Amino acid sequence: MKKFGTALIATLLLGSSLSFGAVAQTVAVGTDKDDKSKYIDAKGEPIYKKFDDGSFDWYTFNGFRRYHAECHVCHGPEGKGSTYAPALADSLKTMGYGDFVGVVASGRIVELSGGAKSVMPALGDNKNVMCYVDDIFVYLKARAEGALPGGRPKREVERSQASQDYENSCLKG
Ligand code: HEC
Repeated sequence: MKKFGTALIATLLLGSSLSFGAVAQTVAVGTDKDDKSKYIDAKGEPIYKKFDDGSFDWYTFNGFRRYHAECHVCHGPEGKGSTYAPALADSLKTMGYGDFVGVVASGRIVELSGGAKSVMPALGDNKNVMCYVDDIFVYLKARAEGALPGGRPKREVERSQASQDYENSCLKG
């Protein structure tokens, strides 16, 4: 009887950690300790937050603007892709935060048949990209997971002072 009890508890613990892992991608489980408006997932990576009224956090809203300033010329509006570059709203269905930041910072060159090249430029020195790479990531993640079907994310929540301070120091530094 005692043995059974231990096994049951172990099963329950395992079960709960498994289901927790399964939702980690989609649920904003907490806020960054330095910036109360920045949401992170169970892995500590940035994630969008959609509120009950359908509005989004500042970073997702800002990511929409930054994406359309820096990426949309190649990747098409709203992450939908173009004949030239892939649909990032699809890429982020499987691509994680680390890989995303790596490709954005370092770029990627792929040799195509017939000697042509597919070139993602390295944007690691571009502050207008790198200071907002989390914003762009969470915006595209919201698109990839269908939380944001399209258009400009509605924003009702005030921007935090911490996000403003980070932006100022990043652009200056
Ligand atoms: C000058 C055009 C151009 C610009 C600007 C550009 N990209 Fe790209 N990007 C590409 C091309 C082309 C590829 C495909 C490279 C390949 O064949 O693997 C690509 C690939 C990527 C990938 C990999 C996608 C995948 O499915 O593997 C990511 C992530 C990405 N770009 C993010 C961005 C972000 C974010 C921005 C804006 C900050 C941006 N890109 C701006 C052309 C561009």
